[in-house]
This record gives sequence, structure tokens and C-alpha cells, in this order.
Amino acid sequence: MIEIIDTTSDARARMANLRCRGHTIGFVPTMGALHDGHLSLIERADRDNDRVVVSIFVNPTQYDDPEDLDSYPRSLAADTNRAAAAGADFIFQPAFNDLYHDDYRFRITETGFSRELEGAHRQGHFDGVLTVVLKLLNIVGADRAYFGDKDWQQQKLVRDMTKAFFHRTEIIGCPIVRETDGLAMSSRNVHLTAADRARAPELHRILSGGGPIEAMRRQLAEVGFTVDYVERLDDRIVGAVRLGKVRLIDNVES
Ligand code: PAJ
Repeated sequence: MIEIIDTTSDARARMANLRCRGHTIGFVPTMGALHDGHLSLIERADRDNDRVVVSIFVNPTQYDDPEDLDSYPRSLAADTNRAAAAGADFIFQPAFNDLYHDDYRFRITETGFSRELEGAHRQGHFDGVLTVVLKLLNIVGADRAYFGDKDWQQQKLVRDMTKAFFHRTEIIGCPIVRETDGLAMSSRNVHLTAADRARAPELHRILSGGGPIEAMRRQLAEVGFTVDYVERLDDRIVGAVRLGKVRLIDNVES
């Protein structure tokens, strides 16, 4: 039976108890509206660890757009069932005032890479992400935490943060799960109009197509996307575009 934990103090007590009994803990932080991308992280965590904790918390501090926050899909009952079927043992769903009892007076700021790419388009986004992730990692005290390659920059920043602060939790990256037409799964895809949904897989197709970055930007604009960025990063091509009000991000190995 999956167990729901609603408070930070219960989460800390339950996790300390598991560690005491010698169980390894895998942790998957999410904002809910779980799809197969999230479930692949939970399944991997289940293979690697004795116990799996999934957090569901729609984190207001990482949103610069209140409309984006308000429209974020929420579905706790369905999420709980899906997480349990994928191998989760605990759902941790703290309230804002509990997790942010300091009212966000204290925050993690990375002063380099977080200002680029997603950070250049979403004011304060990575301060919010890194702060909430550090809080959650401290509460859960997992052996391993799982992050999707879909949010490549986020995963890299989280890994660097845990190294910077000598955190005990190991960060594990997991491959992007896609729809059959290539579109990377995302909770935001439900907001696409039918016409935009039909166009959306072009992002992956064009990023995978090879050739110069500048040509990719041009092709994306021709298809009808508003291009926020396309850049080479490590061994990847990362891109973010907008279709109407929906923002899509993706990346491929280059
Ligand atoms: P969320 O968007 O819910 O994503 C939770 C995790 O699922 C992230 O690690 C993300 O990279 C991964 N993920 C999302 N779509 C995926 C896909 N199609 N394939 C593989 N993995 C995928 O990312 C966040 O939440 C938040 O920023 C969070 C880290 C929870 C902090 O609030």
C-alpha cells in the first residue's frame, strides 16, 4: 500500500526510520500530473532502491507567470494510483507554508549557468527550482534522486548544486520519454490546441535533423514556432519554443 505523507516533520521521521533499518531510498521530485515520463523515473528508482518516495508539489517560487501556475494541471487521486503502479511506496505532498515556513527568505542562487537558456527567459526560475529541490533533498535524505534529461539544464544545475554543498544524495539522469510522434511528454501538452498539437512534434524532428543551429532556428520559425533559443550544450542540442501560450522544451544528442 502506498502511504501519503502530508507534512515535512512526518516525512523526516519516516525517512530517518527507513534509513535506520538499513533501507536505501530513491526519490523522484515532481509537480504531479504524472505521465509516462515521470513514471519512467519512478520505475528506475524502484529498480535501484528498497523504497521509493515521490514528491508532488507545484512550486510557486519557480513560476514568474501566475497564469502558468494557476493553469498547472492537478490530479492527486490519479497521480497516487499511477505512482503506486510504477513502484512508489510514499507520496510526499507538503503544504506551501510548511515547506516554505521561512516565506522564501532563504534561497539558493546559482550565479552563472542558471542565467542562460531557460533562466534568461524565466525570471527567478532556477532560484525557485534549486531552493525547493534542496529543501526536498534535505527532508528526504535519499540515497539517489532521479531527474529527467528532458529538463537538461535543471538536471545539470541540481547535480552541480549537490556537489557544491557536499550533499549525500546522488543525482541520476533518466532518458526522455516521448509520444509515438516524437513529442517529449510534458504536463503542459494538454494545453495545446489540436492544430498546435499536430505541429508540436516538429520541434523534436528539427532538433534531430542535424545541420547548423542557425538553420534549425529558421526551420522552427517557418513551421510556426516562436523560438526562445536553440543552442549546443555539452553533447546536446537544446531548444525552447512557444506555440500560442504553451512553451515547449526539448533536447537531443548531437
Ligand atoms: P516536473 O515538470 O513535474 O518534472 C519532474 C521530473 O520529471 C523532472 O526531473 C523532469 O525532467 C522529469 N520529466 C518530465 N517530463 C519527462 C519526460 N518526457 N521524460 C523523462 N523525464 C521527464 O521538473 C519539475 O517538475 C520541477 O522543476 C521539480 C524538479 C519537481 C522542482 O519543483
